Amino acid sequence: MSLVTAKNKEKKRDQWGSKIGFVLAAAGSAVGLGNLWKFPYSVGNNGGGAFVMIYMIFLILIGLPLMLAAITLGRKTQLSAVGAYGSIKKKWSFVGGLGVICGFFILAFYSTVGGWVIYYCLKAFTGGLAIKDPEVLGGIFGGFISSPVSSIMYQGIFLILTLLIVIRGISSGIEKASKIMMPALFVMIMLIAIRSVTLPGASEGIAFFLLPDFSKINMDVIMNALGQVFFSLSIGMGVMVTYGSYLDKDANLLGPAASIPVLDTMVAILAGFATLPAVFAIGFKASSGPGLMFVTLPAVFASMPFGKLFCILFFVLVLFAALTSSISMLEVCVSYFVDEKGVNRTKAAVMIIMVMYIVGIPACLSMGPWQDLHILGNLNFFDFYDKLTSNILLTSGGLLLSIFVGWVWGADHAIEEIEKMGVKFTLAPLWKFLIKYIVPPAVFIILINSFKSVIEAMF
Ligand code: TRP
Repeated sequence: MSLVTAKNKEKKRDQWGSKIGFVLAAAGSAVGLGNLWKFPYSVGNNGGGAFVMIYMIFLILIGLPLMLAAITLGRKTQLSAVGAYGSIKKKWSFVGGLGVICGFFILAFYSTVGGWVIYYCLKAFTGGLAIKDPEVLGGIFGGFISSPVSSIMYQGIFLILTLLIVIRGISSGIEKASKIMMPALFVMIMLIAIRSVTLPGASEGIAFFLLPDFSKINMDVIMNALGQVFFSLSIGMGVMVTYGSYLDKDANLLGPAASIPVLDTMVAILAGFATLPAVFAIGFKASSGPGLMFVTLPAVFASMPFGKLFCILFFVLVLFAALTSSISMLEVCVSYFVDEKGVNRTKAAVMIIMVMYIVGIPACLSMGPWQDLHILGNLNFFDFYDKLTSNILLTSGGLLLSIFVGWVWGADHAIEEIEKMGVKFTLAPLWKFLIKYIVPPAVFIILINSFKSVIEAMF
C-alpha cells in the first residue's frame, strides 16, 4: 500500500481530486467530436435508424457495464492504465500499453478534425459561413480540407492547444470552464435540434434517424455501432481507468458510471436531430461522410434568426468539447511516460505531440492530395486510423477489460470495491452476469469479424 501511495504522490493526481472534477473530466472526455461530428455521419453511412438501434443495445449491454468496470479498476488501484492492470496482474499491464498506442492513432485523426473546427470558428467570426446554399458550403469545406498547407497548419494549432492544457496539468480553469461550457453546449445543441426538426422537409430525416430498417443491418453496421460505443464513451484505452484513479475511496462510483454514458448519449442523439433532418431538408446526402456537420449546420444557422451568433457559439463550443476529449487521450500517453519511464511531464508531452503530429499529417493529407492513397484495401490513412482504433484497438481494449475485471481480478472483488463505504449496488448480480458472460463473447465475436474484414481488405 505504501508503495502505491508513494507512486501516487509523484503523479500530481490532485488535479481531479474533487468528485465534481472527476465527473466533469470524464464527461468532458466522453462528449466530443465522437458525438457531434462522428455519430451523425456514422448514422448516415450505416443505414440510419438500424444503426441507432444497435448502438443503443450495445450501449446498455456493453458500454454501461464496461464504464463501471473501468472506473472501479482505476479507483481500486489508484494508478493510471498501465499500472492499474499491472498492479493486479503483472502480465496484464500490456493492456494499458495497448491504450497508449491507441491514443496516438486516435489523436492523429482527431486532430485533423479539431483543426477543421478551429478554422470554422474563425470563419464563423468573420461571417464567412452565413450561406444558405449547401453547394457553396460544400465547396468551402472541400476547398479547405483539401488544401494541404492550411489544414495541416490548423491541425498543428489544435495539437498545440491540447499540449498547452496538458502541460499545465489540468487546472481548475478547465474544470470551471467545463462547468459553464458543457451545459452551454447542451442548450445550444438542443436549440439547433429544434430548428433542424422544424425545417420544411425535415420529416424524412427524422424517419431516417429513428425508424430502423432491418434490411440495412449487416456485420459492418454491427461492427461500426460497437466501435462507436467505445469511441464515444472513451472506453477501451484506459481513459476511464486513469480518471477513475483520481477518485477517493468514499466516492460513489455508480452515479458517474451511469450518468456519463447517459449524458454522452443524449448529446449524440441531439446531434443526430440537429444534423440529419437538416440534411434532408436542404437536399444534402446523409451518406456524405465526415463533412456532414461542417456543411449542413452552417446552412441551418443561416436559416435561423441570430444565425451568425449561433454559428460562432456553436463552433467555439465544439472546439471546447473536442479539447476536453483530446486532453484525455494525450493524458493517458503522457502519464505513462511520466509514471513508468520517469520522463519529465513537459518533455513527455512535447515529445508525444510531435510524434502525433507526424502520425497525423498523413490523416490530414488523405482529405486532400492523398485521398486515394489507399494503405489497406480501399482505406486511406484517415479511414485506416479510424477503423484501426474504433474497430480493432478499442474493441480489443474493451474485451480485455471485461475479461480482466470479470475473471482475472474477479467480479466479486470489483463489487466489493464498488460497495465500499456502505454503497448498495442492487444490480450487482446483473452487472456480474453481463461483465462475465455477455460482454466478453459478444465483443469477441465482433472483434473476430473486424479482423476478418481487415484480412479480406488486404487481399
Ligand atoms: N469520446 C471522445 C469523443 O466522443 C473521444 C475520446 C476521448 C476517446 N478520449 C478517448 C475515444 C479515448 C476513445 C478512447 O469525441
